[in-house]
Formats: sequence, structure tokens, C-alpha cells
Amino acid sequence: MLLKDRKAIVTGGATREWIDPVRYISNPSTGKMGSALADEAIKRCRETVFIHGYIHGTLTEGKPYRRVMAGTTNEMLSAVLEEMEDGALLIMAAAPADYTPASPCKTKIKKGNKNMLLELARTPDILLEISGRREKGDFKNVFIVGFAAETDHPREYALKKLDEKNLDMICLNEVSRKDAGFGTDTNAVTLFSRDGERSELPLLSKSSTAERILDEIERRM
Ligand code: CTP
Repeated sequence: MLLKDRKAIVTGGATREWIDPVRYISNPSTGKMGSALADEAIKRCRETVFIHGYIHGTLTEGKPYRRVMAGTTNEMLSAVLEEMEDGALLIMAAAPADYTPASPCKTKIKKGNKNMLLELARTPDILLEISGRREKGDFKNVFIVGFAAETDHPREYALKKLDEKNLDMICLNEVSRKDAGFGTDTNAVTLFSRDGERSELPLLSKSSTAERILDEIERRM
């Protein structure tokens, strides 16, 4: 199945897990890489939807792709499931929070004089849920791409995620570099595919990186 016949589902940005109405757990993802991938997907795919968490203010202004806002990891999972179909291309460039407060408070928590412990509960792993559903035969002929944001042992952890999340491709992002990763306009990613191929992209703008990632996806389909 060619890319032009597929629906692309691209995610980007950070989710927020609320502790109380004025505080949350999140991360520095701005959605720049996800938005660049959605820009590129819309040129090549039958249809493109960008499912995003919290992103940089003007990123999606005037963009031709359809957007769906998903504020929490649970909401992002529901939105991805809603959009999935046979033959879809899923690119998970979002940084969904892995933990959420176990008992969020409906009113603002007041400070005391002592230290405070916050109990966190695991959120669902969206890629694992989707690849698990593919195993069961729910989504046929889909192509699943993940990202790996790593500070240490990058190759080892990326390959572990490729294997454990049962992906077709993973894009390794070394987030400790100043010119790559969260919030930057450039990126330097290495792509690993399920059949053991590896492709190291040079430092490029996020839009050129997106172009090269889509080229690689197209080549492997
Ligand atoms: N991801 C996901 N669901 C989550 C967390 C992450 O689908 N709850 C996806 C991300 O969108 C990314 C990939 O999993 O494509 C890897 O995300 P990353 O943050 O690098 O790793 P984690 O799986 O969260 O593992 P760890 O934090 O232990 O490195």
C-alpha cells in the first residue's frame, strides 16, 4: 500500500497531567517536530490529522492539516484510537507524560511546612496499545513509527523501544544536544527500522528532517 493511499496520524507536543487546578506535570516538548511531520505528510498522504498536546503558540496557524487537541496522555490515546484505521501511518512524535497524579485534587492544594510526597500512577503507553491491537488483528497493514528521546545509552534504549513497542521504525533523538531535541529549530536523528537498517541523518532543520523521515518511511513501505 502506497503512502498516497494512507491516512497519516501524526502526534506532537506535551501532555499535561494535573495535580490540582493550578499545577501540572509536563515536559518541554513544543510540537515543532510533530508539526513539521504533519506538514510533510499532508503533501504525500491521502489525509493527515495532527493530534497534539500543548504546543508552541503559533505553530499550527494557517496549516492545512486537521488538528485534534489532546491535553492528557489518556485523551491522546482516545484521540489516536478514534482516528486509527486499516492502512494508517502513525507517527508518534508527541511526548506524552508517563505518569499522572494518582489522586488529583479538585481545589488548590495549600502548602504546609513539611516536605510533600506526590503519588503518581502510570498512564497508558499509546504505542504499546496500538501495536498490541495490531497484533490482535484490529488494525491491518498499519505502519507505526515512534521516537526515542534519550540522554544516555541512546542506541541501546532506542533499539529496546523499537523491539518492545513492536514498531516498524524508531527515530532516535538525543535530547541532551543543544541543537537537537526539545524546542530547537534543528534536529539530528538516527532512524532504526525493524529489519535492522540504520540511517543517520545530519543536523537539519526540522522540516528537512521531516522530509527525510517521510522519504525513509516511503522507501520501507
Ligand atoms: N509514548 C507513548 N505513550 C506514552 C509515552 C511515550 O506512545 N505514554 C511514545 C512517544 O510518543 C515516543 C515513544 O513512545 O514515540 C518513546 O517515548 P520516550 O519518551 O522516548 O520513551 P518512553 O516510552 O516514555 O520511555 P522512557 O521514558 O522510560 O524512556
